[in-house]
Amino acid sequence: MKRRAFLFAMTAAAVARPAFAQAKPMKIGIIGSGRIGSTFGGLWVKAGHEVMFSDRDPEQSKRATDGLGPRARVGSVPEAVAFGDAILIAVPYGALPAIAQQVGGELKGKVVIDPNNPVPSRDGELGAQAKEKGAAVSTAALLPGARLVRAFNSWGYATMAREAHRPAPRMAIPVAADDPAALKLGMQLVSDAGFDPVAAGSLAASKAYDLGSSVSGKVMTADEMRKALSLP
Ligand SMILES: NC(=O)c1ccc[n+]([C@@H]2O[C@H](COP(=O)([O-])OP(=O)(O)OC[C@H]3O[C@@H](n4cnc5c(N)ncnc54)[C@H](OP(=O)(O)O)[C@@H]3O)[C@@H](O)[C@H]2O)c1
Repeated sequence: MKRRAFLFAMTAAAVARPAFAQAKPMKIGIIGSGRIGSTFGGLWVKAGHEVMFSDRDPEQSKRATDGLGPRARVGSVPEAVAFGDAILIAVPYGALPAIAQQVGGELKGKVVIDPNNPVPSRDGELGAQAKEKGAAVSTAALLPGARLVRAFNSWGYATMAREAHRPAPRMAIPVAADDPAALKLGMQLVSDAGFDPVAAGSLAASKAYDLGSSVSGKVMTADEMRKALSLP
């Protein structure tokens, strides 16, 4: 390639490259493109990943793609699951059984990010039981075979949207999983979204940062989070 053409190609690539581009772009499927789904889908698109948004109503998913460019697209729930190397499910907790029925088989073996909070007044008996037992282990029981990662659950979406990619020290987000490879991927996606991931142990251990816990809603650095959760 001639030098001028080469320089032009390099400049075009630099323009197309997003501000927080990652070395390895991934495909991420999102089920539930409301406040949490659209916030994190947008942050991952800006990090260079490809995202497919889904909901029961595709108009909701279309709104989530506004202004995100060609790396954001809309699909059905089964299409988003087939598309994603990792899946974010961000729906009212009471909708999880319906999702399990619809795509539970296809979610087996997939890394699934779970920010979902059981709220008994909204989610009924399922919500009350999951709150008591711990949200992550309850989600894992609803989605057997999915490689669940617990993250983003205990902070409001507006706080996380505001704090994402702030100058160091970044806001800490604890991440838990029973599958080490899923934990690694989840930590990467938390980092790509603009936060410092803190490995917080197993899904059972993540009850320590369920909604209503002592750290819930508090913006902390990674060191502060490790101390608050008594992590090494
Ligand atoms: N909001 C927060 O600040 C926050 C913070 C941390 C964690 N969370 C948790 O994250 C989850 C999502 O919260 P959110 O505030 O983002 O909710 P939201 O704004 O109400 O969005 C929920 C989305 O789920 C979709 N949905 C509902 N049932 C569905 C189904 N069966 N299949 C596919 N999509 C479905 C809805 O679209 P359709 O109706 O079109 O399907 C909607 O787009 C909740 O469990 C919440 O507790 C929320």
